[in-house]
Amino acid sequence: MKIKSAKSLKGKINLPGDKSISHRAALLASMATGETRIENFASSADCASTLKCMQDLGVEIRREETAIIIRGVGKKGFRKSEKPLDCGNSGTTMRLLSGILAGQDFDSILIGDESLSKRPMKRIIEPLTQMGAKIEAENLHAPLKIYGKNPLRAISYDLPVASAQVKSCVLLAGLNADGTTSVIEPTLTRDHTEIMLRFLGTDVETSENQISVSGNAELIAKDLQIPSDISSAAFFLVAAACLENSELLLQNVGLNPTRRGILDVLINFGADIEVLNEKEISGELIGDLLVRGRKREREKGRRGEREIVSFSPSPLLPFSPSSLISGKIIANLIDEIPILAIFGTQMENGLEIRGAEELRVKESDRIAAVVENLRRMNAEIEEFPDGFRVHRSNLKGAKIDSFGDHRIAMAFAIAALFANGETEIIGAESAAVSFPEFFEILESVKN
Ligand code: S3P
Repeated sequence: MKIKSAKSLKGKINLPGDKSISHRAALLASMATGETRIENFASSADCASTLKCMQDLGVEIRREETAIIIRGVGKKGFRKSEKPLDCGNSGTTMRLLSGILAGQDFDSILIGDESLSKRPMKRIIEPLTQMGAKIEAENLHAPLKIYGKNPLRAISYDLPVASAQVKSCVLLAGLNADGTTSVIEPTLTRDHTEIMLRFLGTDVETSENQISVSGNAELIAKDLQIPSDISSAAFFLVAAACLENSELLLQNVGLNPTRRGILDVLINFGADIEVLNEKEISGELIGDLLVRGRKREREKGRRGEREIVSFSPSPLLPFSPSSLISGKIIANLIDEIPILAIFGTQMENGLEIRGAEELRVKESDRIAAVVENLRRMNAEIEEFPDGFRVHRSNLKGAKIDSFGDHRIAMAFAIAALFANGETEIIGAESAAVSFPEFFEILESVKN
């Protein structure tokens, strides 16, 4: 994929459904009793993996115009799959599904692509084993063999890493366990599982950082609407905020407080983003985002010319003047860090990310991928074990490697808009893992 620079982005766009919420919709609707109609289900390849696994486990799924309809089988009504369950590139599919399969009466095998087979699975094997599950995995990586017919007992689990996937895995296993299962989080991670469980009539108790579910809980089917994906919106927010004279309206974007860290950071850095029409759908907060480009035009005032440049760090900034982003907020913008790095190249004081070592075990080592590719584009960037510091840089077109990672491919497509000369992205097709329409939508709003 070859991309040239752009002057501005203009228009109104509807982004596909949120990937994280769509996974949960597919899994929880399958575990419910009754039929669920899901509107705006994610178009991502990852969510297609989840749907396919559900079908292989005996769940009936059909499409009707803009919706998908899932006929739930109940918490323990799944049927043994004759073939290994293929999770593709999707960590969420593998980790959440493991929690469900640990409580079934049959054995299952979960496989993934090359990237997923390298990602850590000890983080789910450990708590599930404590609950009484039996799981085999060579070197604690996929393929996973999950043995059925092992009664699960409720546990109270202190999460060693802030991970919504691990939290959700344990809670889903807890739905089939004997007693009340609790998870204690080191910091708040995305709470889509808790929200959807409640929406489907299940009691979920939360107090501070502890979340509990009962093994007696039943899920009752109820139609769901999926918000547009804020992680997909992030690419357009950054592009439009940085390109002069842009004006872009992103509609019905998920604004869950545990996911909207990116919005808070961009606004605090001075980006001109207005949140409009906030409301709730299926228990999740959504709204429209109107983003306008920075103004660089010279305004003629009585006392001569004045240059208006937004983006000097706001005095309200919760970060230090060095633009350090670290601590609790990291979990609430973890998937947006590659695009934040690109944003940093356009900031007066650059930007520093720390406490984000989890990025090393995502679909690629995202710290290494960002550093390598930004250097190829002439940016000044220092690498740390848990993050990086990027300086304001004049980007130059270059040949970029996506490392097969969707978020790296899309982040650098946006970097290309700010660069001098053409940028070529190798492995751009990996964008389809979360956002198949990305390049088409980008073209449609580019000026
Ligand atoms: C996700 C949680 C996060 C995130 C991933 C989706 C989820 O992963 O990076 O893209 O849907 O629960 P971790 O749980 O590993 O932090």
